[in-house]
Amino acid sequence: MTTATRRPAGLQVVPSLLSADLARLGACLDAACKAGAAWVSVDVMDGHFVPNISFGPDLVRLIKRRTGLFVDAHLMVSNPEEAASFFVAAGADMVVLHLEACRDPRAALRRLRKAGVLAGLAIKPRTPAARLLPLLGEVDLALVMTVEPGFAGAKFLEPMLAKVRTLRRVIDAEGLDCGLQVDGGINAVTIAAAAAAGADSFVAGSAVFGAKDIGAAFRALSGKAKISFNHKT
Ligand code: DX5
Repeated sequence: MTTATRRPAGLQVVPSLLSADLARLGACLDAACKAGAAWVSVDVMDGHFVPNISFGPDLVRLIKRRTGLFVDAHLMVSNPEEAASFFVAAGADMVVLHLEACRDPRAALRRLRKAGVLAGLAIKPRTPAARLLPLLGEVDLALVMTVEPGFAGAKFLEPMLAKVRTLRRVIDAEGLDCGLQVDGGINAVTIAAAAAAGADSFVAGSAVFGAKDIGAAFRALSGKAKISFNHKT
């Protein structure tokens, strides 16, 4: 099981596992892959940093063994600097830390890259984009949470689009090789707004794995993103 050295290219709809029917996880993953999914996000929650408890490193290991998908572990936990090593060992291609939970984010990001995995940094709705800017050079992905993290199905927070536009402007101005992702409340309408603001990957839980036809939902969202990204505002 080898980890990727680059995130999947182009605009990516990234199904998140929190909404998957765990009794049919294999079929859900197969449907997403068949529709063109290249990347899935494992929402890791500890019931402390966020009010929900979800998955551990074994789910990452299982997905990596079963599919060729790029897998990120999104650590919504209070001790990401300690927890990260378990997800690296499980074969995650990328580990996404929350800026709010890191004692020394720069050191934690460098440790991830030194371990051979891509490094992501996420900010919650109340955290300004300005706090992420000084670290953009150290990350492979900047993640703007567009909901208060913890549960699937929450409402998209429109004001987060201003953060996306700010980060897109800086990433482009400095020519950084850094993905810009949104996560939470992504559906056929909000994905268009997020893409127009400059996001290039879109974590979607209920809109994909919560859909009756996972493949059709994935393809529809991908189409919407592509149209809107090219008409950035
Ligand atoms: C929630 C998680 C999200 C969630 C997305 O905090 O980080 O990834 O699974 O679910 P939807 O797309 O339903 O908002």
